[in-house]
Amino acid sequence: MSRILVAVAWPYANGPRHIGHVAGFGVPSDVFARYQRMIGNEVLMISGTDEHGTPLLVQAEKEGVAVQELADRYNRQIVEDLAGLGLSYDLFTRTTTRNHYAVVQELFRGLHDNGYLVRETMMGAISPSTGRTLPDRYIEGTCPICGAGGARGDQCDNCGNQLDPADLIDPVSKINGETPEFVETEHFLLDLPALAEKLAEWLRGRDDWRPNVLKFSLNLLEDIRPRAMSRDIDWGVPIPLEGWSEEASKKLYVWFDAVVGYLSASIEWAHRIGDPEAWRRWWNDPEARSFYFMGKDNITFHSQIWPAELLGYRGEGARGGEVGELGELRLPTEVVSSEYLTMSGSKFSSSKGVVIYVKDFLAEFGADPLRYFIAVAGPENQDTDFTWDEFVRRVNNELANGWGNLVNRTVSMAHKNFGEVPEPGELTAADRELLELAERTFGSAGEAIGASRFRTGTTAIMHVVGEANAYIAAQEPWKLAKDPEARGRLATVLWTALQVVADCNVMLTPFLPASAQKVHETLGGEGLWAAMPRVDEVVDDMPVQPVGVGLPEPGRGYPVIRGDYAAGAARWGRRDMVPGTPLAKPKPLFAKLDPELGETGPEWAPVVR
Ligand code: MF3
Ligand code: ZN
Repeated sequence: MSRILVAVAWPYANGPRHIGHVAGFGVPSDVFARYQRMIGNEVLMISGTDEHGTPLLVQAEKEGVAVQELADRYNRQIVEDLAGLGLSYDLFTRTTTRNHYAVVQELFRGLHDNGYLVRETMMGAISPSTGRTLPDRYIEGTCPICGAGGARGDQCDNCGNQLDPADLIDPVSKINGETPEFVETEHFLLDLPALAEKLAEWLRGRDDWRPNVLKFSLNLLEDIRPRAMSRDIDWGVPIPLEGWSEEASKKLYVWFDAVVGYLSASIEWAHRIGDPEAWRRWWNDPEARSFYFMGKDNITFHSQIWPAELLGYRGEGARGGEVGELGELRLPTEVVSSEYLTMSGSKFSSSKGVVIYVKDFLAEFGADPLRYFIAVAGPENQDTDFTWDEFVRRVNNELANGWGNLVNRTVSMAHKNFGEVPEPGELTAADRELLELAERTFGSAGEAIGASRFRTGTTAIMHVVGEANAYIAAQEPWKLAKDPEARGRLATVLWTALQVVADCNVMLTPFLPASAQKVHETLGGEGLWAAMPRVDEVVDDMPVQPVGVGLPEPGRGYPVIRGDYAAGAARWGRRDMVPGTPLAKPKPLFAKLDPELGETGPEWAPVVR
């Protein structure tokens, strides 16, 4: 048994989630976490909403509401979206908690004491007409690295590189189109060059990452330079230094605080289970492994900024230093990043109106079809276009006609002819071959899922489903059922098919947890098979250590996602079908979709031609 941290990217609380978001971080992380639990590992899966930074400010301004009010609204909406998808977070929290502020400030303190946060005067943008500062996302221009238009002051979405507003070519203000002026301003820069050697050493030891991610991360080392970790902005975590924390218009950069969320959420989780030091078993133990899931626009922050913060806090860069009181925090084992899910070629984006909301999707189709689609056809290694046509085809062919039909006809025939799991007679070569294929697939599919190769994993499992359907077609149990002499053979065929259905159900559990529970019951299983997350209301009342400055007021209530996942019986591996176990009459697992939906799309996301 080993301990696995499943660290899932924190969505900005600036709007509801669309399916592009959950294709990048949501579904892959949950399939991985569920699989790890099924093989007996101790999983801690954490995340929350990211509530600082200009993405929130821009949206609050648009909607004419206070930022915290906006964050509260979308935090709740996102919690519902993600819980509805069945994502099994041990804790899904938010970045505007007292604990988060205090942990972020402790990281800042450690880095600052060790000399890795350097105060410097640099050029910041202001609006010439109002004299107000223009934070990063209020500025757009041409990317100096890849030449794409529409790059923002902090990052280019096209090439994924981090930028500083002053780097942009032909910058313009998004508020009124004017050309910003650059004036001197003081900031804290993270001394990445002083950490570069250690970063490179760590990255060079990674040979099992997705090739795109590793290549991108290694490339970042080529142009490593100090990056500003504070902003001229009044919304964010205060800088915990005298003379700075009182300064209303200077805060920590949202990315400095957001990545610390993985650690602060783990600490909050430990507090909430009543074992305040429990988080250390994932963070301070060199044996524990950590996997970070996100979309590709987040790679820089996870393969450079976050590990640099951790190394600096440990005092392991060129400037040396001491280990802070949070101990030797471990670096990521793997940064698992997905590419983009696009819609007719354009990246899913709320701002461009190309959008399919998770909420609408769940209301109409339920979680499992979307989870399946993302796992089998999602943007694992390259940008992938979502089409309604492909969604309908896969649901109908693979889920309804493939898997649903296999379960339905196998259990129906066994139920009708025996009422229970029949006692098999001697196995033929065909029976054994199918059983052995299923048995082997536990190994091959499991290995793929454990390496985050979800397409390979699902394809291997669905291959068994296909072979089982072919086996039934060849054995023709409906004919055997008409022949009283063939009752023994009928029992053997149906027992074999039931065993393989049970095997496939185990293997499909990480992908289709809600359906797996139903199949478990249909096969005569009792109790909880695959545990689901729940939404709880909690209060921001945890004692924070060490005490921070300028924390939010205590006592605020907020929703979190949690669950008792150990309560589910699902384990990876064959469970023998025991003759005599009563069987239930199956209900259809997946509704077939109207093929027309593939052409038109649903009303709430029509196909535009
Ligand atoms: N909010 C960021 C985004 O949506 C992701 C933050 S991930 C974290 O792109 F690591 F910083 F938490
Ligand atoms: Zn670029």
